[in-house]
Amino acid sequence: MAFVTYETEGAVGIITIDRPKALNALNSEVLDDLNAVLDSVDVDVIRCLVLTGAGEKSFVAGADIGEMSSLTVAEGEAFGKKGNDIFRRIETFPVPVIAAINGFALGGGCELSMSCDIRFCSDNAVFGQPEVGLGITPGFGGTQRLARIVGPGMAKQMIYTARNIKADEALRIGLVNAVYTQEELLPAAKKTAAGIAKNAPIAVRNCKKAINDGLEVPMDEAIVIEEKLFGACFETHDQKEGMSAFLEKRKEKEFLNK
Ligand code: CAA
Repeated sequence: MAFVTYETEGAVGIITIDRPKALNALNSEVLDDLNAVLDSVDVDVIRCLVLTGAGEKSFVAGADIGEMSSLTVAEGEAFGKKGNDIFRRIETFPVPVIAAINGFALGGGCELSMSCDIRFCSDNAVFGQPEVGLGITPGFGGTQRLARIVGPGMAKQMIYTARNIKADEALRIGLVNAVYTQEELLPAAKKTAAGIAKNAPIAVRNCKKAINDGLEVPMDEAIVIEEKLFGACFETHDQKEGMSAFLEKRKEKEFLNK
């Protein structure tokens, strides 16, 4: 793959978008590479993913403006669908994904981070949805996910004004979970990922699914989703192991993803 690299450290997979000459902007090839990398993740082994950008300046500086500049209506819609399908795949990926946002997260970059479960950023990170200044709407989920994460008022302000915000403001409005120095960012993301990977994998996956699916339906239906996923944990090896370790006052636990 030309624009996306993938490495593993134990049960943690690290995906890096690597297109430095365009500040990791997302053209069709980068999107295809990202999709192909997701195909290659062995979810029987990998229990958490970290997604970041190469270099010290940019996570992802948006969808590729050069590629978009000559699209027709139909092609624009298809490009939006391409990005949306991949980002939705990340959002619903069986294992959690942590975005380590190491600089610019503009347009499609902000949108990519919002498809992840957890967002950590570096103190030089800049977030924004600059699309209306380019004559388009956010097209990779920004109009939908930003409003769900920071609330409609703040999302509308950011999107209508196209104003960028820095890391401290992103933290204040709840767009990111934590801010680190540039040096600390990736180690912090990997450490959190390793912590998640230590927990019972079926339970973690079911939590992700319960939160995601439950947020899309009324509470009466949401609690039924929870009940099913809660119930599905029982009789697994990992439920027996987790509970017997507690009852036996045993610190060491061996979760086998079954
Ligand atoms: N698409 C294509 N190329 C991009 C790009 C993008 N989104 N962002 C940066 N680049 C390219 C630049 O064209 C430049 O290439 P050249 O060296 O060949 O000229 C290179 O990356 C370096 O960029 P700059 O020289 O501009 O770097 P800078 O430090 O001066 O500025 C920046 C950095 C503020 C991020 C600026 O590059 C910028 O504003 N980029 C565009 C950000 C943007 O508008 N993103 C939203 C895109 S629309 C979108 O994403 C739609 C959607 O929702 C799907």
